[in-house]
Amino acid sequence: MAPSIFLLLLSLVLIPTSVVVVVVGLQHVHEEDGFISVVISDKGLDFAKQFLIEQAISSIVPSQLSDIEKKVNVPLVGKAQVILSEITIKDIKINSSSVKTGESGIVLIVSGATADLTMNWRYTARTSLVPIGISDSGTATVKVEDLQVGLTVNLRNQEGTLELILLDYGCKVGDLSIKLSGGAAWLYQVLVEVFEGNIASSVEEAISQKIREGITQLDTILQSLPKTVSLDKTAVLNVSFVGNPVLTNSSIELEINGLFTGTSKVLVPQTYHRGPEISVPRPGSPRMIEISVHENVLKSASSVYFTADSMQWIVDEVPDQALLNTAEWRFIVPQLYKQYPNADMNINVSVSSAPVIQVTNQDIEAAIIVDVIVNVLEAGEVIPVVCISVDISASVDVKIAKSNIAGRLALDKFSIYLKWSKIGKLHIQVIQSVVSSVLKTVLIPFLNSQLKKGIPLPMLNGFALENAAILYAHPWVTVSTDVAFLGHSFLRQKTAYDVL
Ligand SMILES: *[C@@H]1O[C@H](CO)[C@@H](O)[C@H](O)[C@H]1NC(C)=O
Ligand SMILES: *[C@@H]1O[C@H](CO)[C@@H](O)[C@H](O)[C@H]1NC(C)=O
Ligand SMILES: *[C@@H]1O[C@H](CO)[C@@H](O)[C@H](O)[C@H]1NC(C)=O
Ligand SMILES: *[C@@H]1O[C@H](CO)[C@@H](O)[C@H](O)[C@H]1NC(C)=O
Repeated sequence: MAPSIFLLLLSLVLIPTSVVVVVVGLQHVHEEDGFISVVISDKGLDFAKQFLIEQAISSIVPSQLSDIEKKVNVPLVGKAQVILSEITIKDIKINSSSVKTGESGIVLIVSGATADLTMNWRYTARTSLVPIGISDSGTATVKVEDLQVGLTVNLRNQEGTLELILLDYGCKVGDLSIKLSGGAAWLYQVLVEVFEGNIASSVEEAISQKIREGITQLDTILQSLPKTVSLDKTAVLNVSFVGNPVLTNSSIELEINGLFTGTSKVLVPQTYHRGPEISVPRPGSPRMIEISVHENVLKSASSVYFTADSMQWIVDEVPDQALLNTAEWRFIVPQLYKQYPNADMNINVSVSSAPVIQVTNQDIEAAIIVDVIVNVLEAGEVIPVVCISVDISASVDVKIAKSNIAGRLALDKFSIYLKWSKIGKLHIQVIQSVVSSVLKTVLIPFLNSQLKKGIPLPMLNGFALENAAILYAHPWVTVSTDVAFLGHSFLRQKTAYDVL
């Protein structure tokens, strides 16, 4: 690769970068915050490096280089036309590799690699002494040693998606040896003296070409990541990247907007502020990535689902169906039976204000206020008879499902009071049993079915979270985790999305 092109690329990319820095500084006044932060550690970068090198090798091996043809003058033999064909890279072995991050970008270096090639040779030669030409053909193997490959890339936010920029790259063959099967001594000499340089530069060019293609491909994958993820008919998660990735000497930090918005245009967008920087403790052994979710992400979800009216249920089926007829209550609540004998009933459960969600230093706490209205169904009419208000305290455990951060809610305690009644006073035990049944059969299962979907992270599609540790530090909940590759079929469906 010609160094002048490096310089050109470098200057093209570096000059706008320094301008961007100034603009970012100015924009900080109307600052935009990310509510999901992803930090890729040294260990994560190493995993990514290993993964990319394997991908690169499998795209190079096997690959065929262009034929090389030369006319040479050989003493005693005369003018020979030598052609090398089917020059094929059969194998590449990597001895050592490294990845480093810094302000200028991400630098990947592979050193001391070896490559094995096979090729066919043939020649025709003719001297002025003997009018009849001679020709021969055969095969040869080539061992390339001390192959060095390096590249520098950077990541930049391009209107909410990430752009991968190849800043610099190169490939250098250190040493090359040829083994001929058949042929003459002069041919060996010619290959070594005349062709060696061409073979080396062919290998260098082939690998450089794969680097350009590979980076373009990765860039396409990154840019095809969705900016929003539709979770259901109510909510959309904004997974746009916010700001440029921050590269330190040991990590890459990415920020994602992370807020839920409603699908309906009627909904008013909320404004949230992020507050203090993340300062969560780290688990004992280092993990590849750290995903921190701000409590505002949960608050925005709570508010979207509440505003969309989807937190309201009519319960007309319970495990013991007899309970939904006034006859079953004739001894416990005689007034009800007296006013509406043998009438069917249903229960209207509605959440009366958006659940309040808080990330503490121990867990996630949710406070939910629910109205439970008991309706009597008589002569085609729905008659509300009792309204009970329920204050619920619940805690949410964060769980990991594939590439999703999900949750499971458990009821801690609830308190009740009678809001109004058209059938006189009620015994507290009666209310308790109705409420407890509604919570267990309707509310908690519903909320858990929502929480189970979790927050999907599109950039992790195709990979599973593994060995995850969950840490709470108000107002952040952080998942420190390793990732494992699920298989190549996932990468091919680059934009396909699976929520569960
Ligand atoms: C491979 O690396 C080892 C050390 O890690 C070194 O001793 C050896 O010489 C290297 N081999 C080549 C072919 O560079
Ligand atoms: C990384 O940078 C920090 C300060 O920014 C410095 O203390 C540390 O020594 C650096 N680490 C390496 C490996 O360069
Ligand atoms: C999503 O987040 C990005 C970055 O914060 C923001 O610019 C964009 O307006 C948001 N989109 C929606 C639909 O809220
Ligand atoms: C359920 O109760 C809520 C709150 O009182 C009310 O707004 C809603 O109309 C009721 N739904 C039905 C179907 O009765």
